[in-house]
Amino acid sequence: MSKAITCSPEETIEYAKAVGQRLRGGDVVAFIGGLGAGKTTFTRGLAVGLGLEDDVSSPTFSLVNEYRGKLTLYHFDMYRITSSDELETTGFFDYMNNESVIVVEWSENISDWLPDETIFITLKILDENTRGIEIQGGDRF
Ligand SMILES: Nc1ncnc2c1ncn2[C@@H]1O[C@H](COP(=O)(O)OP(=O)(O)O)[C@@H](O)[C@H]1O
Ligand SMILES: [Mg+2]
Repeated sequence: MSKAITCSPEETIEYAKAVGQRLRGGDVVAFIGGLGAGKTTFTRGLAVGLGLEDDVSSPTFSLVNEYRGKLTLYHFDMYRITSSDELETTGFFDYMNNESVIVVEWSENISDWLPDETIFITLKILDENTRGIEIQGGDRF
């Protein structure tokens, strides 16, 4: 398990970048934490760490955003997904392969269907600019 406290969005991105550098194809990263906790900000850092060049934006309306590089990052927003049928139609299971990293916002909604090896990142709002970060799962954190 890894723990950190960050005091600005920039610090979260820097921390997430180091996490992103340790990710491998096939990884599923599931965020736990509500609105404004920093899930999209953290994903921005993960993308930098994965060597992806494009700017990460929130997949609120698109459901999933795709960023291609050496690995492909699929960035999901599961806010409106509540059944396995709905999850299936998002392509979630089809995108799981050794050349892809899947990152999930609002993973609480699909917790029953996440793989056993899922890496969980819990984000807590401690203060306006302060976030508590906890990473669990996987053998690297
Ligand atoms: N330490 C911090 N880490 C991440 N975001 C922070 C931090 N402090 C303040 N913020 C702000 O919190 C908000 C997080 O938004 P966002 O990443 O979109 O959250 P979420 O995707 O969880 O809804 C941004 O406005 C960001 O500037
Ligand atoms: Mg978000």
